[in-house]
Amino acid sequence: MLNLHAQMLSKRQCTFLIGGKLGREVVQMVRHVNNVGTDILVEEPVKPFTAIPGPPWIPVLGTLLPYKIGMKKLTGYHHEVCRLHQKYGPVVREVFGSQTVVHIFDPDDIKAVYDNDGKMPYVPPLQETAQFYRKENNMSPGLGNINGEEWYRLRHAVQQMMLRPREASYYYPIQDEVACRAVDRLEAELDDQGFVRNLDFLIPKWIMESAGMCCFEKSLGCLNGGVDEDLSQKLVETNLKIFQLSAEMKFSLRLYRYFKSPKYKTLSSLEDYLYGTSFKLISDAVEELKELIAQKTLQEGQYNFLTYLMSRKELSDKDIMVITFSLFTDGLSTTAPTFLGNLHCLALNQDVQETLYQEIKTHIDPDAPITLGIINKMRYLKAVVREVFRFYPIGEAVQRLSQKDMVLGGYHIPAWVSLRSLWHLSLYTAAESNGHDNKTVAGLGHSIGMWKT
Ligand code: HEM
Repeated sequence: MLNLHAQMLSKRQCTFLIGGKLGREVVQMVRHVNNVGTDILVEEPVKPFTAIPGPPWIPVLGTLLPYKIGMKKLTGYHHEVCRLHQKYGPVVREVFGSQTVVHIFDPDDIKAVYDNDGKMPYVPPLQETAQFYRKENNMSPGLGNINGEEWYRLRHAVQQMMLRPREASYYYPIQDEVACRAVDRLEAELDDQGFVRNLDFLIPKWIMESAGMCCFEKSLGCLNGGVDEDLSQKLVETNLKIFQLSAEMKFSLRLYRYFKSPKYKTLSSLEDYLYGTSFKLISDAVEELKELIAQKTLQEGQYNFLTYLMSRKELSDKDIMVITFSLFTDGLSTTAPTFLGNLHCLALNQDVQETLYQEIKTHIDPDAPITLGIINKMRYLKAVVREVFRFYPIGEAVQRLSQKDMVLGGYHIPAWVSLRSLWHLSLYTAAESNGHDNKTVAGLGHSIGMWKT
């Protein structure tokens, strides 16, 4: 059966189930079947889950073997997935030990998965080892490690404080003060040739100092030299090692759940140190806050973050510890590398750096506080940051476990059986079509235009 469609439609726009039922096992796809450029709707059978193409795999290990014997490197996994995309197309099935992952590359399919999320998306933990550690140590799992009603309750409690730009702008003066100190420190670190050699540790320490000011409203001395800076250096290094080991264990059979392997024991002791040190800082601040409340000497706005969390009846003491831990440490693996990526791109694109500098000079008065209104005016800055995310995305993919059956790229993907890995990285390649060098960092100047500054 053919239905002539009057309008021009994009190919994927029409990937939906007729009558909303999978039972009929047909899906309408738009195909260019004539030579006058008119799109025609044709019915095509939905292909079964098992027909999704993907790399060969073996029982038990799935596709992990080359990583186990060192033929492939874990650090190059994102390149490997790009190769899978090129070889197998927009939907690829990969068997990871006991887990099946469906990689989704087409932006319209990615959108369809998000549209399907509903009020409570099911998001697998970013770091299964962190989820496991918190459970073993009787901690609150934290936002990233729970789903369903439990997630909704916690998310609702912190949403206003952590996700609204207006609320976040409360911290601008604090961040500004730390930034001034960090810039002085950078200047002091310049060597004879004008280089700062240890940026990859200096920037995370800056981020930790900023986060500490937000959580505890006191300087942790991360940029001051001496023992305080040594402590922050150790925390930054510990966090890095935890991320490296956790990633290695993600590419394993997850036997650490049953036997404490030497690798898991190492990870566990690193986590003991990071959680132990951070929890001590948090509980000291909570004690001081309680003391101020008892003595009725708490100033308006003092301990803004902690007082907000403590005022929420839905949050237990354990929730407050883990949410504050997240605010204190998550920037080390997100804001810090993003910042480094931005600096790298700006260093390689002096013209972009100059335009950005001029925009900042136009809008920012060094003697006046930075406000949300000023930030919102800096459209070129926003475009640069967004474009750098395309080159240096923080996460390679966003994952979902779908609660409903779906049809993606013409394949039936049943609910609950497989992780959907949404490869936003595919937008990286999708953006190369305007004739400019959009694939390399050196092309930043051309590609920023895509963000309509
Ligand atoms: C460059 C900065 C950052 C980027 C690009 C980023 C990106 C992301 C992404 C992609 C997710 C998963 C969303 C999903 O599955 O739908 C996420 C979740 C999360 N991020 Fe970030 N993040 C950043 C910084 C931070 C920072 C600084 C914190 C802590 C203050 C943080 C705390 C969280 C939390 C708690 C979740 C789980 C949220 C939930 O399940 O409701 N992130 N982030």
